[in-house]
This record gives sequence, C-alpha cells and structure tokens, in this order.
Amino acid sequence: MKTIQPVAKALTLGSTNTNGKGATEVGLDELLNLDQGRMSRRVFHDSDIYQLELERIFARCWLFVAHESQLKKPGDYVSAYMGQDNVLVVRQRDGSIKVFLNTCPHRGNKVCFSDVGNTRQFICNYHGWSFGIDGRLKGMHASEAFDASNFDLSGFGLHEVPKVDSYRGLIFATMDSEAPSLAEYLGDMRYYLDAVFAMDSEGTEFVGGCVKSVIRCNWKYAAENFVGDALHAGWTHDSGAKAMVGASVGELHKDVESSYQVNFNGHGWEFNQDIVGNCASLGDKELIKYLYALQPKVAERLGDLRSRMIGSISSCTLFPNTSFLAGQNTFRTWHPRGPNEIEVHVWTFVNKSAPEDIKERWRKGSMLTFSPSGVFEMDDGENWEYSTRTNEGYITKQHDLYIGLGMNTQILDSEMPGNVFQGQVNEANQRAFYQRWLDLMESASWADVPKRDTPKEGVR
Ligand code: FES
Ligand SMILES: [Fe+2]
Repeated sequence: MKTIQPVAKALTLGSTNTNGKGATEVGLDELLNLDQGRMSRRVFHDSDIYQLELERIFARCWLFVAHESQLKKPGDYVSAYMGQDNVLVVRQRDGSIKVFLNTCPHRGNKVCFSDVGNTRQFICNYHGWSFGIDGRLKGMHASEAFDASNFDLSGFGLHEVPKVDSYRGLIFATMDSEAPSLAEYLGDMRYYLDAVFAMDSEGTEFVGGCVKSVIRCNWKYAAENFVGDALHAGWTHDSGAKAMVGASVGELHKDVESSYQVNFNGHGWEFNQDIVGNCASLGDKELIKYLYALQPKVAERLGDLRSRMIGSISSCTLFPNTSFLAGQNTFRTWHPRGPNEIEVHVWTFVNKSAPEDIKERWRKGSMLTFSPSGVFEMDDGENWEYSTRTNEGYITKQHDLYIGLGMNTQILDSEMPGNVFQGQVNEANQRAFYQRWLDLMESASWADVPKRDTPKEGVR
C-alpha cells in the first residue's frame, strides 16, 4: 500500500500502531472515510500528495487536450497542459493528431511559444534545432559540427505522447501506454456526453479564443464542484442568478423527482430535466428559443431523457480535470500548478450547425457569466481559494471535512447508464470522484486499478 509522510506528529499513529506502516507513515486510504461521509483536509494541501497526483493521476489518465475544431488543417496546433507538462497537439498531413512534449531534446527549451497557430515546423530559439509537424528532427544551426561527430538525427525527435484519441470532437491524450482505451475510460459517461456534444448531428465547435486565469486553489476543489456540487449553486450563485434572470436557482433544485446525479469511473454529471435552466442564466431569450426548437429533434435521435438535458441546470466533470456546463456552454480545464494553484483554461462551445448569430450570443453569454470577470465564476473562485487556504492552519488541517450528503439515494434498478442517484443536490458524485482518486493514487499501474464500474449492456 502506498503511504505518505504524516502532516504532523499529531497525526502519526504512534510506535505501537498495528497497521504495519511504521510510526511515521499514514495510508492514503486513511485520508478518506467515504462510507461515513468524511475526508481529510490533507487531500487539498500537501506537497507529497500533489507529487503523487502528478505521477498517478495526471501522467496516467486520459486528459482533454483540444477540440477537433481547433485543428482543421495539417500543421494546425494548440499548446495544452497534461498536469504540469506542456504539450503541443498537432494535426498531421494524414489527418491524424499527434501530441508532443513542448520541450527541445537538445537542452530543454520550449520549441513553441504561441498558444495556437499553423506551422510547417517548430524551430527552437536556443540553438536552432528544427522539427517537422510529425516531431522528427529535420536540421539545425551549425549542422556541419553535428555531422562531424556522426550525430544521428533520427534519435532526437520531439517526445511523443503515446496515446491520443477523440470522442465527439473532444481530443484526449494519455502519457501512459498501458492506459485502457478512451472508450473504456469514459465508459457509460459517453451516453450522457452525447446529449451535449452530439445533440446536433454535426457536433460542436469551440468559438472565440481561450481565456486563461489563475485561481489560488487546489485543483480538486474546482473539479469536485463541477462533478456534483449542485448544492452550492442555489446559495453561492443566488444573487448572480437573480441579477441575470430575476429568479432563484434554489427553487429549481427542489425538483428532486426528475433530477439525478450519475457517475462512472469518477466522471460525474448532476442534472435536472428542465431543458433550458442553465441557458436561462445567460439572460438571452434567443438562446432559449433555439434549444426549445431543437429539443424534439434531440428526443427523436437520443430519447426523451437526454433531450431534456441539453441546456438544463447541470454540471459535469470528466475525471480528473475537465469540466463543462450544458446550456451555459462553458468548457474548461483545471491545470494544477502545485497543490495550491490552478491555471484555468476556458472556451465556449456551440453546435457547429447553429446560426452565426446564435453562436455569437452564446460566446457573449458565456463570457458574461463564466469568464474571470463573469458573474458566476467570481463567486466560485473565492470559495475555492478560501477552502484551500484555510487548510494551511496547523490545527485546522487536523480536522476532517464532511462529504456525506445523499447517502442512500442510489437507484439500484435504474435503466439509466452509470451509477445513478436520485436528486441533484447530493454529494454522491463527489464521493465517487474521490473513490476513483484513491484507487488511482494507491495503484502502481493501470493493471492494479480496481474496476468498480461496469458499462450497462445494450446502451451503446
Ligand atoms: S535547446 Fe533547443 S536547440 Fe538547443
Ligand atoms: Fe459555481
């Protein structure tokens, strides 16, 4: 079992402990007691844990790196992060996509400084090594000196990320060649992803650019908020919602009968079936009309349940650090920068076939609400920063936290895919997120990660 150093002597188990881990070690499993709805604050504020997360979560899981609409032509590229590793996602001449570490194999400099663009080659600023879009080293400054020492170019291409795949336009990559397929990794969550990323047969695209900001919080506060924290919306965002639409979010959350939390492999989605609840918070009636007009067609293709999710009050995180909101159409990644800071990358997504005017309205609405100066984003950021920072306190961090809302709400005989829970105001998805986190953190390889969730037969 993986162990970590205790936060302080007060947390050591004593020289007479019987867990076999020694007086200075604490098992990761001791940080979570999900059946009792309790968890340690160390999960959010500990550099040992963070280093292990980089190894066992971020260098192992499938991570979102780009949307296909950002890479239309050969040579199109975007810069992205996988954990703290900067990567370049590049469209190849044969239409495939490759992902490389953005670092020169010579002396380590970045080979690309722009976030997005089109190129025939990446040339390093330092000594002029030049790489094709396929990552191969093609030449360099003072090449005769290298020739004289029989330098073999073929051994010094950009380091390629081993696995890349996409689902409904969303491109993911993993650093771990032993990782399960993307289809297996997403599992039953694909059923729900279709409600948003395939509500229209032409799929979605990103519009506008990427908005970046820094929040001084642990990455998991952001991820768990979107995975299932409908609870905060009716309180934290109440004044924002009233300002935008003159209505309280809390009222909508009282509809327990037709709202759910679903999760699979640590991914989670909380939603109700109001069709346009999230969308309404953008304050633009044209967008609401657009979704209502689309809903019958979605019902025909994907069934009634998913047609009612298309813009409803809802949120989703794909484990570990990619989140989006249906209807508000914000899509984001929470990139860790140490245990106490994240760099947030935010885009607006729209249906590719939507009229240009609708796309522009969505971009504006999304920026008004979920950009760094957005009505809702500011509320969230402050809560996550203070939730993270209070855990610095020596005594504070020795007191655990509650994560027990909605115990016994699981619907065991549901027809719906994934693990299904009644009522979106619930912490079931957060518990599933941390169970997956623990499973990965405790496992030395993918082969050791427990398979808790089985895809539902016949759904896909
Ligand atoms: S570090 Fe890139 S060419 Fe030397
Ligand atoms: Fe929020």
